[in-house]
Amino acid sequence: MASSFAVCRWTQIFVRRPGGETRTGREICSHQLPLQRENAPQGTHVVVEFANRESVASLLEEAAIPSISHEAVVPFKSRLLSLKKLGSLDSPNQQSGQQCKPQTSIPINELIKRLSREESIDQQVTSLTETYQLTEENSRLRFLVCSLLQDIAAAYFPECTIKPFGSSVNGFGKLGCDLDMILDLDGISGRKAKTPKGGLSLEYNLKRANSERAVTQSILSVIGECLDQFGPGCVGVQKILNARCPLLRFAHQPSGFQCDLTANNRVAIKSTELLYLYGELDPRVRFLVFTVRCWARAHGITSSIPGAWITNFSLTVMVLFFLQKRSPAIIPTLDHLKNLAGPADKSVIEGNDCTFVSDFSKIQLQSNTETLEQLLREFFEFYASFAFNKMSINIRKGKEQNKPEVTPLHIQNPFETSLNISKNVNATQLDRFVALCQESSWLLQQSETNTPSLHSKGGSPTPWGLATLLLPSQVGGIKSRKKRRLEPASVRIKSLLESLKKS
Ligand code: UTP
Ligand code: MG
Repeated sequence: MASSFAVCRWTQIFVRRPGGETRTGREICSHQLPLQRENAPQGTHVVVEFANRESVASLLEEAAIPSISHEAVVPFKSRLLSLKKLGSLDSPNQQSGQQCKPQTSIPINELIKRLSREESIDQQVTSLTETYQLTEENSRLRFLVCSLLQDIAAAYFPECTIKPFGSSVNGFGKLGCDLDMILDLDGISGRKAKTPKGGLSLEYNLKRANSERAVTQSILSVIGECLDQFGPGCVGVQKILNARCPLLRFAHQPSGFQCDLTANNRVAIKSTELLYLYGELDPRVRFLVFTVRCWARAHGITSSIPGAWITNFSLTVMVLFFLQKRSPAIIPTLDHLKNLAGPADKSVIEGNDCTFVSDFSKIQLQSNTETLEQLLREFFEFYASFAFNKMSINIRKGKEQNKPEVTPLHIQNPFETSLNISKNVNATQLDRFVALCQESSWLLQQSETNTPSLHSKGGSPTPWGLATLLLPSQVGGIKSRKKRRLEPASVRIKSLLESLKKS
């Protein structure tokens, strides 16, 4: 059976007719359905961008609501369409000859082989980033999914928008990363107080609630219900409404994205913008963040399961802090970015000052010429000996501060400055991070690690440099391998229970 789908305002996705045209649209992305389940539609999905809304509308007019014998369907018309070839079960993809671009990252052992062929550690770092970063197609697919979900939310709030934030758009996204979204109701017209005309004021009659949080919870609850019952491709909807930041978590099956939908989370949008800005200031920022994130994932320092692990967001802030501490500094402090801000940049959200400059040209960088190899080695050395017991990481000041609380790891939230973004991290996980930094720093000082591989083992080049750091049997195998073998099940279960209590 052939399948396909969707659109974003001017964009339409559907499966190409075998050898046929994509009508008036321009194909921008195609990929294999990532989740293949029994009875799930299979085939190639194609994102097609149309020149105007009318073309999309005319295509939708031709689409029919399928009648399936013995099954009922919710007649919700989304822009996810299937193109079926009548009278045939052939997949259009088999005949189209179209190459599909992978939308997921390659396995770590493949990456290690790829990196081992490079000639310098700098090239390895660049190659790792290029392999793992989001492709343009994948980024567009993320905006598309937001727009499809927006259509559903708009049934209740016609002027709402759903926007991506976090690693999907901050420049540090890896293929396969989750899709964080915010339901934005601030743009709804009429929210700003108007001057009453002639002493009269006309207002909407609204339902009232006890707090902003209660409003967010009830809106997400209803939208969650709607996604679960009517949202094509939305499966496994969980309402996590008692978390500090209430959210809906679900899988969008056609795109393969794991989605988190929040509302009223404007500070997270600001932190996304800030990370994007830092990533754009100097290319070494993104290279180092990608490398450290990948290294951490390869050794189970980070995890896709919530728990006592260090998060990618925390790791990113740690890299930024390290780059602020170089001499001369590679990136400026957040306080400096705030001082450069103009009147239009002023932003105070729920009492938190989120102001920083948006005009990149106002930012003068110091001239630091350190190579990626030097920075990587120094990063591990820096955190191998950081005084985590006493000091807090603070990118606002660009200097470590005394820890205000007794958690193992303290990283000040850049905007909500009374919060610690790594409050979840326990001592065991911090110790593992420090031990791995020590071992990685040591490995990078060994001449055999630093020498590009000249010979290959059974067709594969011998791992060297960064590739060695990603090998589980190398890093973590020297001092802490025994310790790690004893702990995984108990530590992981404990972490999971802790995180469930928090959410
Ligand atoms: P995520 O935990 O999803 O991180 O938080 P991420 O940066 O997207 O990384 P991966 O790829 O999913 O692992 C999403 C965003 O929420 C904000 C940050 O902007 C982060 O990028 N955030 C998260 C905060 O502002 N504070 C936090 O404590 C956590
Ligand atoms: Mg994310």
